[in-house]
Amino acid sequence: MNLEGKVAIVTGASSGIGAEFSKILVESGTKVYGLARSMEKLNNVQEHIGNGFVPVQMDITRHEAVDGWVDSTFGKELPDILVNNAGLGYFANIDNLGLKEWQQMMDVNLSGVFYTTRTIVPLMKKNANVCHIVNIASIAGLMGNPTLSAYNATKFGLRGFSEALFKELRFDGIKVTCFFPGSIATNFFDSIETMNLHANMMQPSDIAKTLKFVLETSDNYLINELTMRPLNPKPPKE
Ligand SMILES: NC(=O)c1ccc[n+]([C@@H]2O[C@H](COP(=O)([O-])OP(=O)(O)OC[C@H]3O[C@@H](n4cnc5c(N)ncnc54)[C@H](OP(=O)(O)O)[C@@H]3O)[C@@H](O)[C@H]2O)c1
Repeated sequence: MNLEGKVAIVTGASSGIGAEFSKILVESGTKVYGLARSMEKLNNVQEHIGNGFVPVQMDITRHEAVDGWVDSTFGKELPDILVNNAGLGYFANIDNLGLKEWQQMMDVNLSGVFYTTRTIVPLMKKNANVCHIVNIASIAGLMGNPTLSAYNATKFGLRGFSEALFKELRFDGIKVTCFFPGSIATNFFDSIETMNLHANMMQPSDIAKTLKFVLETSDNYLINELTMRPLNPKPPKE
């Protein structure tokens, strides 16, 4: 698609790769509705990238709020792009994994994706343009590892959701792509004491360039899954 003049929704747009996705889309002439809970952070993003970014305070786990916002925003204007990016991870051995943490990961990483997708797809079906949904899973959606059981379960689940949707929506002119990135230097790891950011992690700008590339493919060309990793994942030697 040609990104100029298109309309996108990016969840988790207040930081990390969501903010970077929003930036590259706005720079490409797309209007971006950026959803997240922190209005302060969303306003900071808008200050950096301009009024092509529309901040929307939204907890995507509240499905009535998602429905209400979509109903009041779209109709005349139709969305062309949905990037389901909001997500979080708590890492712990199974005997230390709290019920609250399990539930929050299920609510945001899986149910939240369902809540946005189910309200946006009917609008995309009305859109004469070829539309595109991009789901941000993780390399943890392809391989399980100790302490990641709940996060793995959500991201493996997102892979299944994406594959089913790509087959379901292709004849409606809606592409579905699932991303499986390895470690990216963002705030994602703030709650994980054993993980420190380092210079060999992937940069949000690299993932954003990949998003732009995938969105700009020609209409009948679909990349349904994409894995990205750092070449050398180890921290550089001091
Ligand atoms: N960083 C990595 O290494 C990595 C690797 C592979 C995949 N990923 C995936 O990439 C995605 C983005 O992560 P990131 O690395 O950019 O981390 P991040 O900087 O922590 O961003 C997470 C975003 O999700 C939003 N969010 C969390 N709960 C939400 C909710 N209930 N409703 C709406 N928004 C919510 C946060 O905004 P608020 O707090 O303002 O709501 C924030 O904008 C996640 O799905 C993550 O699983 C990350």
